[in-house]
Amino acid sequence: TGLTSLDYGFVNTAATRSAITYIDGDAGILRYRGYPIEQVAQNSTFLEVAWLLIHGELPSASELSEFDDKIRRHTLLHEDLKRFFSALPHDAHPMSVLSSAVSALSTFYQDSLSVHDPEQVELSTIRLLAKLPVIAAYAHKKSVGQAFLYPDNSLSFVDNFLRLNFGTMAEPYEVNPVLSKALERLLILHEDHEQNASTSTVRLVGSTQANLFASVSAGINALYGPLHGGANEAVLDMLASIRDSGESVQKFVERVKRKEEGVKLMGFGHRVYKNFDPRARLVKESADEVLTALGIHDPLLDIAKELEEVALADDYFIERRLYPNVDFYTGVIYKAMGFPTRMFTVLFAIGRLPGWIAHWREMIADPATKIGRPQQLYVGSPERSWPAER
Ligand code: CMC
Repeated sequence: TGLTSLDYGFVNTAATRSAITYIDGDAGILRYRGYPIEQVAQNSTFLEVAWLLIHGELPSASELSEFDDKIRRHTLLHEDLKRFFSALPHDAHPMSVLSSAVSALSTFYQDSLSVHDPEQVELSTIRLLAKLPVIAAYAHKKSVGQAFLYPDNSLSFVDNFLRLNFGTMAEPYEVNPVLSKALERLLILHEDHEQNASTSTVRLVGSTQANLFASVSAGINALYGPLHGGANEAVLDMLASIRDSGESVQKFVERVKRKEEGVKLMGFGHRVYKNFDPRARLVKESADEVLTALGIHDPLLDIAKELEEVALADDYFIERRLYPNVDFYTGVIYKAMGFPTRMFTVLFAIGRLPGWIAHWREMIADPATKIGRPQQLYVGSPERSWPAER
């Protein structure tokens, strides 16, 4: 068949060229379009980085303000799409609501099917960036039984999102600048991470020339799993269960090392990083800053820090080169901001959206792109005859 290698989990196979993000997992380096993540996170806004990822260069002041304006103008959801939420159970997981609603965008914007028309692609890009946070906030509002607010387009991307989540019809909502700044930073840290499972999914679906909404909806579903974006929710559940059971951190780590059924140190380990995940360092700093600024003392943060300390000194983790990843400390911050645990992976999805879009566009524009179609090694029965009588 010409098949030369079997590579479970694509550990050794490059499926594409890409000029978007560089990672050196041994050295713990992450760069967006050449810029080190530490500098990006210090000096930028979410939309500025989105433009950088999608277009390859930093936007000029006028490009950025035009981009921002367009996104503000596309935040409204069609009333029919708003009714879509009422067809779903109130206790639906917001990630399922998010992927379903994004998939439904294709039904409202059928012009998005022209994947080789740059103007349509740009319009789908703007629509997705504008509407995903609104869909996410409505998924949250639905889960807590509150009315949906209209977006307030005088507010920035992040402030608008905070208001849609935490504002009510009853009283005006004052954005807390500490929350706004911290959330913007977290979203920036999630914007891209080269060929991770969800981005590869977006590329694979997009390689069939499925439109941007269909491809991103598939990416959201890939992100949902606990080994990928769902880890941020799983970390908080793990910390809460250690707190509630009264089990010591040491004992919990022993169970992880014995590989007890279903017990892993969530938020640790990474396919690519065999060193500190540079995002994890930045998130840990933010966790301390945000909780201090809000005057919150959360025992879950203490448990997380103790877990990190115990694991980093333990041979099991040292030999396997397992370090905290980006998901280890994010949940503690999202919790302090007031988001329910089930919204955590949704926040990851909003952060990752520019990366998914940038990769989909890079893939569509690359003349070398072919439909993704992995090979298999057949291990089933050789040819046999269907029985004459059964
Ligand atoms: N806790 C305990 N043991 C672990 C962990 C962990 N979190 N991660 C890896 N190991 C062990 C694993 O059991 C294996 O041991 P052995 O060699 O004895 O069989 C060894 O380390 C190598 O692990 P692997 O499963 O072969 O590594 P992988 O590259 O296939 O998986 C991973 C990477 C991220 C799925 C995995 O480390 C994991 O499940 N981590 C927990 C979930 C998590 O935090 N995911 C978030 C990833 S980062 C951001 C994102 O994508 O959302």
